[in-house]
Amino acid sequence: MISIIGSGQVGSAIAFLCISNELDDVLLVNRTKDKAIGEALDISNAIPVNSNVSIHGTDDFSKISGSDIIVITASTGVYLKDRTEMIGAQVNMIKEIANKIKKYCPSAIVLVVSNPLDVLTYVFQKETKLSRNKVIGIASSLDTSRFRYLLSEKFNIKQSQISDALVIGEHGDSMVPIFSRVKINGKKVVEMLTNSEKEKISKEIQNYWKSLRLFKSRSQFGIAKNTFDVIRSIIKNDELIIPASIVLNGEYGENDISIGIPLKINKDGVKEIIGIKLDESENELLKKSSQTIRNYIESL
Ligand code: LAC
Repeated sequence: MISIIGSGQVGSAIAFLCISNELDDVLLVNRTKDKAIGEALDISNAIPVNSNVSIHGTDDFSKISGSDIIVITASTGVYLKDRTEMIGAQVNMIKEIANKIKKYCPSAIVLVVSNPLDVLTYVFQKETKLSRNKVIGIASSLDTSRFRYLLSEKFNIKQSQISDALVIGEHGDSMVPIFSRVKINGKKVVEMLTNSEKEKISKEIQNYWKSLRLFKSRSQFGIAKNTFDVIRSIIKNDELIIPASIVLNGEYGENDISIGIPLKINKDGVKEIIGIKLDESENELLKKSSQTIRNYIESL
């Protein structure tokens, strides 16, 4: 069973993808019971014919018992200028959720989606003491999908013509697009962009979530699909390599923070932390990003 904590726009979109693709039974958990029940009643009509999956909604946390995967999308409010605006309330919320998951479902793999993503992933893992390989923060793969999209728009090409796009670091303003690896039709993109063009694309990725809000209330389907991909990889044991947030113990020269880096995912959660070659400026930017997250953690 997949339990999704928070049945707002993101949680319900993830539930819809899981159910319509028949991954597993889904339980939507929300403080407001009717919200969870309403989304479950609606998504129940997306269950494919002859399918064995089901979806239910509840405000009773104890019903997560037996979940294989738990997704945390809950939020205490709406941030406007920065994903860290509500850090205090969000940290208190994730600690509360952590203690309930420790009590009802300590063996689940947990995907954190709530913001500020890296701080909450770190706090959740420390609070529950779950293996770090079973606590994954989903966001850098979303940033990477935005990187691919922006390159496809700039060069007026299909995304299939782009290889090795990657964004790592904080799911925030210090995120690090790795231009040095990207190729378009096999040609290094760094040979096709000036430094100011690279800077402009970096800013557009960082601010994508704000630009989106000029047209709709908040991001929904991009984060939902990137989270669904990880759920699918775990359930189907179909190895997936993506950047996502994990607590580091010396990898990339960093300890005791959670930050987006390339990971190999499978049925057990994180199978492998993947080391990649970064150029000097990318290394510097990743160190700055790590320090940004560390500062937030130390401010708690
Ligand atoms: C965004 C949210 C999911 O980047 O942090 O859209």
